[in-house]
Amino acid sequence: MSTLRSPEEIRREIERRRTFAIISHPDAGKTTLTEKLLLYGGAIREAGAVRAQKASRHATSDWLELEKQRGISVSSSVLHFEFSGHRVNILDTPGHRDFSEDTYRTLMAADSAVMLIDAARGVEDQTRKLCEVCRLRKIPIFTFVNKMDRHGRDPLDIMSEIEDVLGMDVVPANWPVGAGSDFRGIYDRLDRRLVTFSGGDHGAHRVDEKVIEGEPDSEGVREAMGVFADDALGGLELLDGAGVELDPIAVGKSTQTPMFFGSALTNFGIHPFLDRFLQLAPAPVSRKSDGEQVDPVSHPFSGFVFKIQANMDPDHRDRVAFIRVCSGQFVKGAQTTHVRTGKPIRLSNSTLLMGKDRIEVEEAFAGDVIGLFDPGIFRIGDTLADKPGVLYAGIPIFAPESFMRVEVAGVQKRKALEKGIEQLVQEGVVQLFRDPEGGSASWILGAMGPLQFDVMQHRLKTEYGVELSLSNLPYKLARWPQAGFEPEDYRYSERIRVVRDRDDHWALLAPSSWDFDRLLDRNEELVLAETPDPSLFERAG
Ligand code: G4P
Repeated sequence: MSTLRSPEEIRREIERRRTFAIISHPDAGKTTLTEKLLLYGGAIREAGAVRAQKASRHATSDWLELEKQRGISVSSSVLHFEFSGHRVNILDTPGHRDFSEDTYRTLMAADSAVMLIDAARGVEDQTRKLCEVCRLRKIPIFTFVNKMDRHGRDPLDIMSEIEDVLGMDVVPANWPVGAGSDFRGIYDRLDRRLVTFSGGDHGAHRVDEKVIEGEPDSEGVREAMGVFADDALGGLELLDGAGVELDPIAVGKSTQTPMFFGSALTNFGIHPFLDRFLQLAPAPVSRKSDGEQVDPVSHPFSGFVFKIQANMDPDHRDRVAFIRVCSGQFVKGAQTTHVRTGKPIRLSNSTLLMGKDRIEVEEAFAGDVIGLFDPGIFRIGDTLADKPGVLYAGIPIFAPESFMRVEVAGVQKRKALEKGIEQLVQEGVVQLFRDPEGGSASWILGAMGPLQFDVMQHRLKTEYGVELSLSNLPYKLARWPQAGFEPEDYRYSERIRVVRDRDDHWALLAPSSWDFDRLLDRNEELVLAETPDPSLFERAG
């Protein structure tokens, strides 16, 4: 059994941790990049394993059957490996745009993000949304331009698109030499050297790298660039001439993003990226709790629940709460406090999920993510802390964009239906709204996209044995009025519906933003917010 380590050991463990999420639009190559990071990190010996693991998970899991049918990743897991003295934690996020809410929550647990961009497609819709969340949290964003083995857009073009669309200054840490089938290396602008790649067995194994030290126009570097020298030198001269240098403070505030080039498919550029990223990315930093900054090193154990998932595997019909450790050391079996209820709890059933595999965790440190078996006591956003006074801000709730009414007429197992919905709402699969008076007959479910409803129906059927019947509602937007709001004080059109959200706050649903604009025109004193508690983003920072 593990015991508490010395303060010096705890500090060393925390400082070597790098916990990040990869954000991208579906198909940009997130699964491939994740797998290649695992390959270079030594967690897998041959690429192909992650996809294979995905496939075997399909075979053993029935609710993930939906994943198989849709060919998408619904759930997210945590992957970790050791690399050059660092403990690397990758918070894997689902890639489908409908599951962005789950992805958003995962970003609350990350210390930095890798923004993956398809070299041919540039900044896409989902990338933009996820990037906005990272910027609200002010976590550093590292840009990896992928698929350089295909003919894509001019790197300068991609740079200016990121600057224009995402509003960050882009500082290339390296620059591509050649493109498409002729992509052969990168020039490392920070170490002033060229790295060329060869071999790699179509990406199954690591590639061979050759390093040539020197300025871009030095003889050796020029010669190794071959026919691509003029092009690469042109770009590099422009960048050096512009004189924008990497500024760790600006990166830390996500106003500047370091940019890297590579190909996850062929492994070209993965190693230089991983090396530099681990050097520049932050170790866990202080987090705001109610009124004070909690230092990850000097504070004893604390953490918060950023995700709850039940019935992940039919062999283990249980509920797991994912805890991001924010300070100190987690020791299996130790006692801590569940801050919302004020009750002491013993952290005995701790697990770590590596894809499908469960590993018992004896100890963990700030930056790590652990899974705790949850007998039904945890809620998303809950704080666990050894020391009194720590309370993390919770996880912001995003406004749904799609709404459905729950049809209860004729349902045989009403109790099971209600229990199932309550449970899955707690997990955050969908959001629940109710008419002020009226029971489950007035339940409205809200989601970021229609696929979440499919997951809800599928899980209610397989896990609770009930058919969920839903009917369409015309609403597309939700808004939350300011505190003290009383519905009868205002005038509404019939298109607006006044409901209570899960936390019993008032919320308004409408088919379009036009309806809210009209409402505000008619009721000058009304103030509406786009999320129940917009300040949570900053407080979570
Ligand atoms: P995602 O998780 O972001 O959705 O993307 P994923 O890694 O599944 O990759 C999407 C597609 O892009 C896959 O092709 C993958 O092989 C390809 N891809 C990823 N990285 C690169 C790259 O660096 N270069 C090139 N040329 N392609 C890349 P697919 O045909 O959809 O799947 P598969 O048949 O290859 O498995």
